[in-house]
Amino acid sequence: MSVVVVVGTQWGDEGKGKIIDVLTKDADVIARYQGGHNAGHTVMIGEEEFVFHLIPTGILHRGKICILGNGVVIDPCALINEIKWIREKGIEVDNNLFISDRAHLVLPYHQIYDIKDEKRRGDNKIGTTGRGIGPSYTDKIARIGIRMADYMDKDLFYERLKTNISEKNLFLVRYYGHEGFKFDEIFDRFMEYRKEIEGYITDTNIILKESISQGKNILCEGAQGTMLDIDFGIYPFVTSSNSTVGGVCTGLGIAPGKIDRVIGVVKAYTTRVGEGPFPTELSDSVGMRLRDQGKEYGATTGRPRRCGWFDAVVVRYAAWINGIDRLALTKLDVLDRCEKIYICTGYQYNGKILKEFPSSLNIIKKCQPIYKEMDGWIEDIRGIDSFDDLPENAKRYIEEISNIVETDLSIISTGQRREETILLEENSFLNNDHSNQYKWRDT
Ligand code: IMP
Repeated sequence: MSVVVVVGTQWGDEGKGKIIDVLTKDADVIARYQGGHNAGHTVMIGEEEFVFHLIPTGILHRGKICILGNGVVIDPCALINEIKWIREKGIEVDNNLFISDRAHLVLPYHQIYDIKDEKRRGDNKIGTTGRGIGPSYTDKIARIGIRMADYMDKDLFYERLKTNISEKNLFLVRYYGHEGFKFDEIFDRFMEYRKEIEGYITDTNIILKESISQGKNILCEGAQGTMLDIDFGIYPFVTSSNSTVGGVCTGLGIAPGKIDRVIGVVKAYTTRVGEGPFPTELSDSVGMRLRDQGKEYGATTGRPRRCGWFDAVVVRYAAWINGIDRLALTKLDVLDRCEKIYICTGYQYNGKILKEFPSSLNIIKKCQPIYKEMDGWIEDIRGIDSFDDLPENAKRYIEEISNIVETDLSIISTGQRREETILLEENSFLNNDHSNQYKWRDT
């Protein structure tokens, strides 16, 4: 039995979807612990691309249990559309999906607030996905949110929705000039949605408790990444949940001592969507090339992603915050045509060298990356599935990342497909002794 957590170590879009898909074969339960349909997890099977926003990618595998935990915020309409789309692909969504009765709803007013707030912020906008995620979490913390359990209780839902809509309308109408929401219309619509999703709603904490006691393998699927975490990301350019490992405890009800392993997914370079500082950003043709080669466009919004070199300050920080045991390196093949590759080892700020990620927005904005230059491999590595077959310079690059982040690797991805993967460990679940056949680190 083991509980394995997969977290993003950068700004999301590290390729967690593929890594989770690879790990799912050995998992019994796959559980999302935070975020909502702002996420976009892409899995490529053969020539077919699957993009998931809410439902764990584990649903693609027969016989696995998928959970949306209490820490997730759920727009029933987005959920229903996703279920429909998955079923159209011939995949079963039935007794294999469970949704926490403590998960909060994303309601239509949340999305309007998200969009209007962003517009109001002007140049200071966050660059949200516009899905209503932040305003839904705001209501949760303000103790006016509506949980699935409340939604399943018609009278309680009626009462809470009525109060919320009248309060939300006050500001929306007066300040934003919005026409306001009609309670009856939303209530009726949501009662229709309810019929389609009520069969999935349950106390998922009990399923997880029983699964753990029965010795099952649990895979916890993080969305977004460490630098978008509400506490540890570059505030306020963050999402509104804890995408780091702590989110597993609060968003699924799994105690810290039950977590056996944390796998940090790291892209071989860096990307981000949305606004905010990005120290290793490349605004030149090299950045454009990374974007083209890596098909770096948002899976949820289609926005072009900002691209830059690998930032070891960020990944080292993520390794500490999440207690990462192993790294899963993705998109190594995207660097195939780079003559030179650069790793940011620290920041130059005000005549000093910073090795730790700073908290102050103004300091981060002024940080200049210090780079270590490495030779590229100018060879097509796509699809290589054995470490030994990689070009020497690619091995050196991997070794450097492992050394500088002080963490061993367990998976290297050399392409989008499942089989385009180098597995450095047989099984990420059962091997809890934390030994690794590939030890690159000097220590
Ligand atoms: P929100 O989560 O929609 O509120 O957006 C807040 C920030 O998180 C913005 O910079 C988004 O671009 C970013 N973000 C949210 N979800 C994802 C994701 O799945 N991948 C990458 N960035 C994301």
